[in-house]
Amino acid sequence: MPVVAIVNQKGGTGKTTLATNLASVLAEKGKVMLLDADPQASTQNWAAGDWTSPDALAVKGVGKGNLLPQVRSMARDYDWIIIDGPPGITRTSADAVRAADLVLIPAKPSPLDVWAASDIVAAVRARQKSTNGMPRAAFVITMAQPRTRLGRQIDAALAELGIPVLQARTTQRVAYPNAINDGNSVVDGSDQTARNEILAIRGELESLTHDD
Ligand SMILES: Nc1ncnc2c1ncn2[C@@H]1O[C@H](COP(=O)(O)OP(=O)(O)OP(=O)(O)O)[C@@H](O)[C@H]1O
Ligand SMILES: [Mg+2]
Repeated sequence: MPVVAIVNQKGGTGKTTLATNLASVLAEKGKVMLLDADPQASTQNWAAGDWTSPDALAVKGVGKGNLLPQVRSMARDYDWIIIDGPPGITRTSADAVRAADLVLIPAKPSPLDVWAASDIVAAVRARQKSTNGMPRAAFVITMAQPRTRLGRQIDAALAELGIPVLQARTTQRVAYPNAINDGNSVVDGSDQTARNEILAIRGELESLTHDD
């Protein structure tokens, strides 16, 4: 039952988009709890929409201070717990890091996102220091514009922060906001590229969480 926390203190880096899509495709294979730890409740709004996502996917909001007990109480009932983190470094985002086996940090290919990642990287490092290197952590590049000079430089800049960058990433595609609007995932839409991107992220996630 891996717990995956999707966190970044910077707003708008694609946390909710990644969380809803990943949770949907993981639910094709097992039971998934998607915890909405963001007071903006974006994930819950998504779930309340035109709900066509898999039966194996449950979505629940988390009140302030409740994340750790909630994750503990659910651990045995789900194959995956995905946490959609709030923007900002808050008690909830710190709890998400504490609860996680794997922290995914979505970052857009922009120097602003690389600079802004330093606080969450420090929070993950502090946690790793006190718990024998757990949780594992990785950046996921989101909204990439393929074949740009900046795109290539961003991989190197993120890697310098000492946290690996997933090979799989999302590119800037309207299929992502469309899927949020439709209350489903990009796998339900017609954009094969977006679908393959999310499936590739799922594949890397599976190998990261199952190779210990
Ligand atoms: N790969 C993508 N292609 C195009 N648009 C995207 C992509 N990923 C995310 N977006 C859009 O970028 C915006 C921010 O994404 P999202 O809400 O997922 O970020 P967030 O990190 O959860 O934001 P917040 O910090 O406010 O919770 C949204 O409008 C979303 O539709
Ligand atoms: Mg969000």
